[in-house]
Amino acid sequence: MSHLINIPSPVNLLGMMDRGIKVFVKREDLIHPLFGGNKWRKLKYNLVAFKNGDYKTLVTFGGPFSNHIFATAQICKIYNIKCTGIIRGEYMDPNNPTLNAAKEAGMQLYFVPKSEYKLKENSELINQLISKLERPLVIPEGGANDLASKGVEELMKELDEESHYDYIFVSAGTGMTASGIIQFSNPLTKVMVVNALKNEGLEDSIISFLTDERTNWEVLSTYHFGGFAKASDELIQFHHTFFDKYKIQLDPIYNAKTVYGLLDCIENGTIRDHSKVLFIHTGGLQGITAFEYRSGKNWLPA
Ligand SMILES: Cc1ncc(COP(=O)(O)O)c(C=O)c1O
Repeated sequence: MSHLINIPSPVNLLGMMDRGIKVFVKREDLIHPLFGGNKWRKLKYNLVAFKNGDYKTLVTFGGPFSNHIFATAQICKIYNIKCTGIIRGEYMDPNNPTLNAAKEAGMQLYFVPKSEYKLKENSELINQLISKLERPLVIPEGGANDLASKGVEELMKELDEESHYDYIFVSAGTGMTASGIIQFSNPLTKVMVVNALKNEGLEDSIISFLTDERTNWEVLSTYHFGGFAKASDELIQFHHTFFDKYKIQLDPIYNAKTVYGLLDCIENGTIRDHSKVLFIHTGGLQGITAFEYRSGKNWLPA
């Protein structure tokens, strides 16, 4: 299960900031050019379950610009797995770059009305669709299940035990990835979870994913820039400056907001002097093409 996959992902020094604060970045985005980041971590043990079980088709869910749909399609192509994506909304824009790439990778797409999509496996329509597939393994939206947590545990095991971090910054949508990071973190590390989608139930969902009680974490809810897939000109400008300086691409949906929040927490004094901070880059770079297509704006500097 490891060919072509660049793990352990490297940890690099991003820079020495004010007040003696050192920021490091774990380059999960470098795990694979098409499905690096938390997608690999969340899908790996689902793929193992697929290969070890009596399954023929992998089925999952996502919106029309979903990183999870894109990454699942690419991974299934590489591992020669038949896959189906159940997509939110009845209409397929023929130019949608995410769905076109998923189709080209071999994913079969079904579009369902938003009202049915919301019900997921409780929707009769969706159940009918799934029942027609050959021996399906159903993975929830965003890959959020117990097997995903096992993959995130591996990420945390890659951190050198010698190098303690005072803070870890990570993005959250459902909070599954962040909960794995909290679960397997050193209790002396504070995990700062950036709520990228304005998910009002994020704290509760992180608590529901945690398998024991942890208090070394906090959700930062002021860096969502308007919510899912929203990015202001300020965020675009921030990314241009960041990319020019560090030569690292951040996606507009999750990681740019997280780094913005991290640097703001340094500037506003939330981060203690002389701290060591780790930013976990969760990938999602296909989101750049999707964002540029949707907004007509340049996310990358010219
Ligand atoms: C690039 C990226 N980062 C972070 C997240 C947030 O992950 P989670 O839904 O596990 O909170 C996602 C969504 O899966 C993502 O695509």
